[in-house]
Amino acid sequence: MGALRDRLDFFYFQGQDKYFESRIDRNGSTVVRINVPPGPFMARDPRVVALLDAKSFPVLFDLTKVEKKNVVTGTFMPPASLTGGYRICSYLDPSEPTHAKVRKLLFSILHSRNDAIIPTFRSNFSALFATIESQLAQQGGKAEFNKPNEMTSFDFIGEAYFGVRPSATDLGNGGPTKAAKWILFLLHPIVTLGLPMFIEDPLLHTFHLPPFLVSGDYKALYNYFYNAASQALDTAESLGLSREEACHNLLFATILNSYGGLKVLFPGILANVANAGQKLHEKLVAEIRAAVAEAGGKVTLAALEKMELTKSVVWESLRLDPPVKFQYGHAKTDLQIESHDSVFQVNKGEMLFGYQPCATKDARVFGPTAKEFVGDRFVGEEGRKLLKYVYWSNGRETESPGVNDKQCPGKDFVLVVGKLLLVELFLRYDTFSADVGKELLGVKVVFTGVTKATSGPATE
Ligand code: HEM
Repeated sequence: MGALRDRLDFFYFQGQDKYFESRIDRNGSTVVRINVPPGPFMARDPRVVALLDAKSFPVLFDLTKVEKKNVVTGTFMPPASLTGGYRICSYLDPSEPTHAKVRKLLFSILHSRNDAIIPTFRSNFSALFATIESQLAQQGGKAEFNKPNEMTSFDFIGEAYFGVRPSATDLGNGGPTKAAKWILFLLHPIVTLGLPMFIEDPLLHTFHLPPFLVSGDYKALYNYFYNAASQALDTAESLGLSREEACHNLLFATILNSYGGLKVLFPGILANVANAGQKLHEKLVAEIRAAVAEAGGKVTLAALEKMELTKSVVWESLRLDPPVKFQYGHAKTDLQIESHDSVFQVNKGEMLFGYQPCATKDARVFGPTAKEFVGDRFVGEEGRKLLKYVYWSNGRETESPGVNDKQCPGKDFVLVVGKLLLVELFLRYDTFSADVGKELLGVKVVFTGVTKATSGPATE
């Protein structure tokens, strides 16, 4: 009953942030034993040791201390039939041989497509902004970002990774809808759609939705990958993976990890920058246009690297609103975990759980502005010292993912595309305004005005 009551608190009576904050207050501690959803009847044991500060959280990155087998979604596991019958890389502990093979495959794709990322991003997102401009003109000064972003991000990622736009294949424009349905089937035990509690809780949080209802959509997505990624699947075979297992993994990494991430991240960045106002826009315009001019009017990786403020804005968005908020692991041995004030004894086998927004908004690290967006937080030597407390990638921002760890292999890619979004925006506009609201997993952005660039380098 306690777990059930907690689930209702989490989704309906308190909401996520309050759920954790109230338990910190109640226990006078940032390391607490609590229940997490979904609880009955999908999770055998909802109990976790929650790590809710910047100091205790990184235990979850230490693979000598935690086992990461079957824990990516926490205390429940979606049916394997949703992923072709395979346990995908995200569910594997690095001790399992397939884990490193899949990570090698992903690194190889990202590396081999390095030169395609910028031009592909620019062609897709300049078309998106052109659409927004025409909608602003036609729809009385309002143009929604999220929906067109979903179509654009989906096409961009397919084209960037495999050279084939999903919308130009049999998938047509149906990719994002099929993806959304499949993601819902995977994650429904831990999301709320905002429906009335008495309908939603029994429907989404009590039993698994039957996978056959989404198998047609999954098959259509799979076919896209099987055809578009044939070169990557050759590489997979040379790494010792079957084409089939590799293809299910590519689908998961592209749709859930990459597309799912950008679907939340891009509106999040725009919302923060819109709310920050014109002063920040002016500084971003100056930095971005100067770096591009210096690179001969081209947007290059080297030019992006020079954009300190732009980078900081992306990191700050990832800190404030980490798109993947939950991390889990089982204690491999009896452990002592330190918070800022105390030391806690945890037993071997206990489930550790980190709620990132609490850890990355820890006032003991980020000071009185911890809960605010400060665009230039990570600029300069002092600012960069704080990067080790940015955890969005399931690792510190000062560390790089390798073949044998669990840090997000898309870490560099995410930073690059986050910066590219701002570059595209501020090469095109001097400033913009937008209304910001709530969405299922993040924020909703509606542009209310853009001011076309009055100066700046001629770009290629
Ligand atoms: C905003 C975008 C993204 C965010 C916020 C994000 C975040 C994360 C996080 C937190 C994890 C660790 C999950 C866990 O084990 O608890 C993870 C893992 C992973 N991410 Fe990302 N990611 C993003 C984009 C990408 C991209 C572009 C790729 C493309 C390669 C990617 C591929 C993966 C894969 C394959 C894993 C599983 C790694 C493993 O278990 O060894 N992600 N990501």
